[in-house]
Amino acid sequence: MSEARPLPAPETPPEERPVLVLDLGGQYSQLIARRVREAHVYSELVSYRLSPEEVAARNPRALILSGGPASVYVENAPRVDPKLFELGVPVLGICYGMHLMAQDLGGKVERTGVGEFGKTEMRIDESTLFSKELAGEQTVWMSHRDSVTAAPPGARVVASSATTPLAAFEDPGRGLYAVQFHPEVVHTTNGQKMLERFLHDVVGIEPSWTPAAVIDEQVARIRAQVGSEKVICGLSGGVDSAVAALLVYRAIGEQLTCVFVDHGFMRSGEAEQVAETFGKHFHVPLVHVQAQERFLERLAGVEEPEAKRHAIGEEFIRVFEEEAAKLGEIRLLVQGTIYPDVIESGGGTAGVAAKIKSHHNVGGLPEEMEMELVEPLRLLFKDEVRRVGEELGMPERLVWRQPFPGPGLAIRIIGEVTKERLDILREADAILQDEIRRGGWYRKLWQSFAVLPAIRSVGVQGDERTYAYPIVLRAVTSDDAMTADWARLPHELLERISNRIIAEIRGVNRVVYDLSSKPPATIEWE
Ligand code: XMP
Repeated sequence: MSEARPLPAPETPPEERPVLVLDLGGQYSQLIARRVREAHVYSELVSYRLSPEEVAARNPRALILSGGPASVYVENAPRVDPKLFELGVPVLGICYGMHLMAQDLGGKVERTGVGEFGKTEMRIDESTLFSKELAGEQTVWMSHRDSVTAAPPGARVVASSATTPLAAFEDPGRGLYAVQFHPEVVHTTNGQKMLERFLHDVVGIEPSWTPAAVIDEQVARIRAQVGSEKVICGLSGGVDSAVAALLVYRAIGEQLTCVFVDHGFMRSGEAEQVAETFGKHFHVPLVHVQAQERFLERLAGVEEPEAKRHAIGEEFIRVFEEEAAKLGEIRLLVQGTIYPDVIESGGGTAGVAAKIKSHHNVGGLPEEMEMELVEPLRLLFKDEVRRVGEELGMPERLVWRQPFPGPGLAIRIIGEVTKERLDILREADAILQDEIRRGGWYRKLWQSFAVLPAIRSVGVQGDERTYAYPIVLRAVTSDDAMTADWARLPHELLERISNRIIAEIRGVNRVVYDLSSKPPATIEWE
């Protein structure tokens, strides 16, 4: 049984008072925080280890105790300090969070031997937590072994299922609410409405967390941090760096210079789109570095995936440094760090000099280059970044772009990257994207792309023997890239893509579809 991972209290709270989601290690903790944000209420995911004093210092509007993998009876089960329930802040406990509340407040939790997993029919009573609209028969998502068998004294039971007679309780006088099921997952039909009922009606929070509000607030913060200094931003063509750059530009205008290093591994038309959008449309000062030849030379003879990533990363840094030096002394660097990165890395330091790790990634910067970071997306989830991008007027194609790795097409060419192979892959990828978009699949997929393996096979075309490359098609669905499944694309769509690739691209005589999930495969091939 894993312990809940420690989370830091984010160090730069916005003006808005947060709803704090105390992460007790459940698989849906982050999802709860996202759903609260979708209700236009600012939320943060924090460690369950925060003391009542630390929690009170954040002045939260409400607390939500997440689910957890643990049973309250397991040794070292995560626990919160019961004084949390006396802060006068409304609390909603979900699943394991409900068990903790029951146990700490004088109720009872038992291992009844009958767990419930999956969709469950629930009888819900009209109550403070559940408006008339939400009462009656409801389909909800359950995932628990222990059950609450006695509510805390003074609390009223407000939901039940056939196997779980005590599936929700509330004590409005003390601001205590608890549900056994998971309102945050989509399988709970009215889950979002239930969360909104709690946040808007029961706690009384104005739904004011909107993209426009985020922009106003970030603009003010960026101005305060930057003053009259100059700032540099590396554009990768990805959504995060693009939105971060535009936000900073909105705040400080031409004090910002964007540097776009074109390594030549972007997809068809993408480099042009970045230049067009930033330079021509938004008039952001932009240095567009044409470094395609340089990167190809650097990769000559490099076949091993890690060596390839490393070489690209290093070259990227070199080019970026050269360009930055031409701009004179600049101390501030924009980074498109988003909230899940902050959570994953256990937090960090915003707005103070930080060593920037290069990893092997493109967009990472040299370790010896110490710069102060401007990170305007640090508190946003990916979907919020996209909505802010839309609000800033970014084109739909850029805002909704599927994730694309920093090293680009170079890590989708197995073996050596040459101009010839790059051209083949770029063309195949363009056909794939075109058909995926036309078929209405682009936004349903986490990623879709082509891969060029380092093998050739025999074929026959126009009575002639061919000996040419295959193209691998990869299309996956995923929520966060940690796991992924291959997409069930219609056969007709696959057929169209295959026919076009073989007919239109010289040097390709075969198309195959990758049927691997992650794990055990990864999404990319290198
Ligand atoms: P894998 O292949 O590890 O990929 O399943 C998971 C997700 O990460 C993306 N990816 C990268 N993104 N730089 C990036 O910015 C990289 O070097 C990189 N490598 C993989 C990948 O496209 C997928 O979405």
